[in-house]
Amino acid sequence: MSDLDPVKAESRIFPPPAAFAADATISGMDAYYALCAEAEQDYEGFWARLARENLHWYKPFSTTLDETQAPLYKWFEDGLLNVSYNCLDVNLQKGLGDKVALVFEADGGEVTKVSYTELHQKVCQFANGLKSLGVGKGDRVVIYMPMSVEGVVAMQACARIGATHSVVFGGFSAKSLQERIVDVGAVMVITADQQVRGGKHLPLKAIVDEALALGDCQKVRNVVVYQRTGGEVTMAGGRDRWMHDLVAGQSAVCEPEWVSAEHPLFILYTSGSTGKPKGVQHSSGGYLLWAMLTMKWTFDIKPNDVFWCTADIGWVTGHTYITYGPLAVGATEIVFEGIPTYPNAGRFWDMIQKHKATIFYTAPTAIRSLIKAADGDATIHPNKYDLSSLRLLGSVGEPINPEAWMWYYKNIGGEKCPVVDTFWQTETGGHMMTPLPGATPLVPGSCTLALPGIMAAIVDETGHDLPNGQGGILVVKRPWPSMIRTIWGDDERFKKSYFPEEFGGKVYLAGDGAIRNKDTGYFTITGRIDDVLNVSGHRMGTMEIESALVAHPMVAEAAVVGKPDETTGESICAFVVLKRSRPTGDEAKQIATELRNWVAKEIGPIAKPKEIRFGDNLPKTRSGKIMRRLLRVLAKGEEITQDISTLENPAILEQLKQAL
Ligand code: WTA
Repeated sequence: MSDLDPVKAESRIFPPPAAFAADATISGMDAYYALCAEAEQDYEGFWARLARENLHWYKPFSTTLDETQAPLYKWFEDGLLNVSYNCLDVNLQKGLGDKVALVFEADGGEVTKVSYTELHQKVCQFANGLKSLGVGKGDRVVIYMPMSVEGVVAMQACARIGATHSVVFGGFSAKSLQERIVDVGAVMVITADQQVRGGKHLPLKAIVDEALALGDCQKVRNVVVYQRTGGEVTMAGGRDRWMHDLVAGQSAVCEPEWVSAEHPLFILYTSGSTGKPKGVQHSSGGYLLWAMLTMKWTFDIKPNDVFWCTADIGWVTGHTYITYGPLAVGATEIVFEGIPTYPNAGRFWDMIQKHKATIFYTAPTAIRSLIKAADGDATIHPNKYDLSSLRLLGSVGEPINPEAWMWYYKNIGGEKCPVVDTFWQTETGGHMMTPLPGATPLVPGSCTLALPGIMAAIVDETGHDLPNGQGGILVVKRPWPSMIRTIWGDDERFKKSYFPEEFGGKVYLAGDGAIRNKDTGYFTITGRIDDVLNVSGHRMGTMEIESALVAHPMVAEAAVVGKPDETTGESICAFVVLKRSRPTGDEAKQIATELRNWVAKEIGPIAKPKEIRFGDNLPKTRSGKIMRRLLRVLAKGEEITQDISTLENPAILEQLKQAL
């Protein structure tokens, strides 16, 4: 465990601007500490108060936290509510019907605005359409859609009728999609004819057809297709329906299905260190509560804000900070289709200017790539745009390096917007550690402190607390309302993965390493401690990529490691042993290309290794274990200084040093 404190060297501190703090939901550190103290003194009372104050309950809950089957914790279980009702109807009752809910900008720049009244109507009609196809409470629906108003409508409509959605990112392959459809037992897939990214039309419906043809999907009765481009698709009679046909003539009234707070709102697959992706199951009540609270606390959301989270609905960030959080607090939000670099790398700045965004939330990878682009082309430099509407910036998904943080702060925020570096995970449902913009003094590269009620700590391998200044393993010591409930269909795997016995079975293991600053107690995330990679903020398991590689008929063995990358944070580097002799030169390049495309087909283009190296063998211990730590050093192009006395075949290192 490293004893090096990366934040110690960082002396820049940015206290909240006085005007921001004066008006903030949580104003000043005393207000933050008061909330923390309330949670410490009466943990359940704290959460119960917030759940009563923030959510609409059809039937109030009588118990707050049920720990009898820990770690299968239950929150507000006998309370009944509906998530879509809380996101839509509640706002209509507050008189926000005419307020713009969604400002959607398509890849080509066309803008569609949808008011709360209109969104409510669309959701109800689609919900009625789903019901007409026999979808109901407890059914699972897979959503494989582009960024669109319809994508948000589809998720909300599922929530309205108590169906559990599982969104699959549009960049996953037919095989990945099929695995998720099968694992979740979906009765329906909602998709689009195509998606549009950077002017290119890419198939979605055709991939769904391919996925369903792979087998074991007989539970899928219907495929509903949103017509995005009008591109050619094959519609299977009886099974496939156009979304517009399905909603035509449907009533705009749909009584919500009142469900228990513990009812699974969604299942979202994410990568773990071993085996196949895990279906992270989230609740309705606790999840929505945290989505709302973090909108208020972290984003200090106000009635006049124009909130923009650039994530895709295929990831958890898009769930919590596009589909649910912003709507639950009655905000106006921007939703965009496409990529940050099309029609040029000024797209984000242009959209902030055009739509007068006040809060902007994006990923470090995007920031780093736009820094590069702005350096190369002065015409799309952010200083060419009017970004004065902004009052708050956020970062998510991966560590933000201090240089990128400073650029973001200066060039996008004009040195007047706080930057909230939000640490969280698919499993946590919402932010865990983050500055509060009207309270926390900011330090570039640190996600600062845990939110009130989140009992984060750093421990050693035996679960004992470590003092500040000493790097260790990040854990959360008490359950919190928006936490993962289980891994879909696999309670045992859930317990083993997140509440391992080595730590007493009672603390949540995040899977990240972290360190707290000696003086401030600020957290800095030092990276995953398992075999999970973070490439451009996308989580990927090394084992998943290795399994994909060895599934290729030519491959005998493969080991995948992460390599630090200036833009994407990490990149994928694969060491491969073929069944035939080691290829060299052009032939090696050719095979590498074939293998990269193979991985794209097996998992999705996001999992393509950036680099592939071939060897006659892999570095192994005498007991046959692959020494990944050596491969990480080789990938970086560094000299091996570690002890290699347990290595069976040291000569192999020389061979694997060379990149193609
Ligand atoms: C990493 C994304 C440093 C971390 C919301 C975590 C971060 C994983 C940060 C979860 C941050 C996320 N600073 N690292 N602010 N935010 N991570 O499930 O390794 O896609 O475990 O959720 O991303 O990725 P996931």
